[in-house]
Amino acid sequence: MKKSDPSDNQTPPPNREILNPNLFSEEISFSDTEQILFQEDLHQTQTTSTEALTDSTADTRYIPLKKIRDGGMKTIWEVKDTRTQRTLAMALIQPERIASQDDIESFLHEARLTAHLQHPHILPIYDIALEKNGNPYFTMKLLRGETLEAILHRLQHHDLETEKKYSLTYLLDIFLNLCDAVDYAHTKGALHLDIKPANVMIGDFGEVHLLDWGLATLLTESHQNDSTPRKVVGGTPGYMAPEQALGNKEDLHFHTDIYMLCALLYQILTRTPPPHRRNHRSHHATQHTRHYHPPRTTSHATSHT
Ligand SMILES: Nc1ncnc2c1ncn2[C@@H]1O[C@H](COP(=O)(O)OP(=O)(O)O)[C@@H](O)[C@H]1O
Ligand SMILES: [Mg+2]
Repeated sequence: MKKSDPSDNQTPPPNREILNPNLFSEEISFSDTEQILFQEDLHQTQTTSTEALTDSTADTRYIPLKKIRDGGMKTIWEVKDTRTQRTLAMALIQPERIASQDDIESFLHEARLTAHLQHPHILPIYDIALEKNGNPYFTMKLLRGETLEAILHRLQHHDLETEKKYSLTYLLDIFLNLCDAVDYAHTKGALHLDIKPANVMIGDFGEVHLLDWGLATLLTESHQNDSTPRKVVGGTPGYMAPEQALGNKEDLHFHTDIYMLCALLYQILTRTPPPHRRNHRSHHATQHTRHYHPPRTTSHATSHT
């Protein structure tokens, strides 16, 4: 893997100036459902004060090396932790993207939920904190590798090197690892709700990780109208289950994740992404009409088993 040299890095460092400090409340509250799910771990802590979450050394402790990804809400950086002297990944919200306190709560919800899911195929979270200006961030293991999306894309275009490395048996092994991760999350009452190849990373040593618990919800949250910020039903066309496409939050359950796993399995078996339309509701219609092609055996499927 190519080593990153900070001096080569053309990307400007993350903006640590907060534009509207009044956005930050005095206390970060854990939702009732987070309390229920994580009660063994969270003990009696009802709220964490902003002060307790603040690490005023963050901007000197972590040296930005390069931006890995600039997503919708969060930005992922490769950073050097000057305390442990190791390189890790940091997720933060760019201050200009913070529109409301809910944005901060959603970000922290993802971080806490991921942190509580401790499993070999789920990224370990190292720390969750607020910078002294109140901007939240979390640090995690840095994965070096590529997404399953990139791999499946090359397979779809018959890249020989990729075909040699990723036999069907190997891909099914990866798939079973993902099933293990989802099964474990389900035992904790957590639904991922955005399972797709772009949210799976395969490390340089074959490590399989299910990433991006940004849409994840706790079963209790999807069935209660509680005060958590995760109210919107999201998902990715082609992978999302009909109940997601229709926005039926109360219908989300384990079967929703299983549907998405099956869409991923469809892609592994056929080398073709599951069919979809841009519009969620017409996507739902697509799933149940003649446009939906059942998986069929490909030469890929037969030649490597
Ligand atoms: N810990 C990490 N190490 C290396 N790359 C990462 C890490 N976390 C995320 N990424 C990269 O960033 C991309 C987006 O991350 P993700 O968590 O899916 O955020 P988003 O919500 O923007 O989709 C991933 O597909 C992966 O390429
Ligand atoms: Mg993602």
